Amino acid sequence: MDNTPGSTPRNSETTTATEQQMREAMVTRLIELGALRDPRVAAAFRTVPRHLALPGMELSTAYGAESAPITKTDATGTHISSVSAPRVQAMQIEQADIKPGMSLLEIGSGGVNAAYLAEVAGDQGRVVTVDIDPDVTQRARDFLKATGYDRNVTVLTADGEHGAIEHAPYDRIVVTVQAADIPPAWLHQLAEGGRLVVPLRMRGMTRTVAFVRDGERLVSDGFELCGFVPMQGAGENRISLALIHDAEGEEIGLRLDGHPEPDSAALRTALRMPRVHAWSGVTLAGDESNEHVDLWLMSALDNLPLMAAKPAARDRGLVASVSPIGVPTLVDGGSFAYRTARPTDAVDRYELGAIGHGPQGQKLAQRLVEEMQTWDREHRDHRPRIEVHPAGTPDNQLPSGRLIDRRHTRITIVWP
Ligand SMILES: C[S@@+](CC[C@H](N)C(=O)[O-])C[C@H]1O[C@@H](n2cnc3c(N)ncnc32)[C@H](O)[C@@H]1O
Repeated sequence: MDNTPGSTPRNSETTTATEQQMREAMVTRLIELGALRDPRVAAAFRTVPRHLALPGMELSTAYGAESAPITKTDATGTHISSVSAPRVQAMQIEQADIKPGMSLLEIGSGGVNAAYLAEVAGDQGRVVTVDIDPDVTQRARDFLKATGYDRNVTVLTADGEHGAIEHAPYDRIVVTVQAADIPPAWLHQLAEGGRLVVPLRMRGMTRTVAFVRDGERLVSDGFELCGFVPMQGAGENRISLALIHDAEGEEIGLRLDGHPEPDSAALRTALRMPRVHAWSGVTLAGDESNEHVDLWLMSALDNLPLMAAKPAARDRGLVASVSPIGVPTLVDGGSFAYRTARPTDAVDRYELGAIGHGPQGQKLAQRLVEEMQTWDREHRDHRPRIEVHPAGTPDNQLPSGRLIDRRHTRITIVWP
């Protein structure tokens, strides 16, 4: 494959001007969003005819930078397979820093992303893609065959928890499904110094983290907030929801990810008590994400699940805001407090604060606000390092920071 920017698509005979324009428009948008920087990755996005993996879909939707069509939903209504959005695919491929000729493993298939990986790795490169779902691997095979990428991509139906030992080692492993842990196979099938890009869920929030292998540990080299469908199979570990308001259509719940089971009955009572506010004096621009302050809050505070609420709950005034990711909520017995914000006199700037409920609501709101102030004073300009160590590593061999213990690993979030 020719990886120079603007190279001729493999399917150039069949590509229409409109399709090519759609790809160009998508690439322009991805560059604007900051998701695409590397010209070789941009060339891959200009080349792969992703709409062929999405039959029946409008071209403008198939090439929408943020469009992630769901292709399968399980009996509980959870989305379990999708074609990831171009923005997320570009972000992960950039994080992987792929060089021509590399050997790559993708966990979670679909075909499109494997084709991008094959483009970036070039003719001498090799891609193995693994999915647990035979319907997905069949779809991926059909797409890769139709587009000619089957020459460089091997599709396997298996539980990606175990990697794909038959083609190991890999220079890069790109996981395209949300993982709560890093199974040993991913570490051991990765070459020393190789990169593992994985949407890692830590205390309810998922970030796609680029890790570099350093012996038996992985050390982060950047991360980005994202959303992915949850892992199935041996590594399945889903968050649970503790409802604190269950009126139909306006449910409010706490997403638990290793957090202690809350006293939901007491929290329901607390929610009906008047709210109290605390304000931090810390401000954010309107287009500035809460993700960094939230990462500090979850690093600093112990019992901080995310509160999820239906828009109707906000419309009825039960909660101040809703967010698809959830709002960090400090819980203590029958009281809780969650992050909020209010407009300031400055145009398009918001002040962070907290809303408390229950007998200890004011104290908890104040505690959250103190940590927002600590973040602003000491951490706002820094990003933490995330390290992954094997389970069983003694405490005194771990860096100090927020520790998340999983079955296979001890994950630490270390702030400078
Ligand atoms: C977001 S989709 C992958 C998107 C894909 N990479 C693309 O090209 O757009 C996530 C996939 O992960 C798969 N999956 C879930 N658990 C898995 C596991 N344990 N091993 C392998 N695949 C898994 C699902 O079947 C689903 O197809």
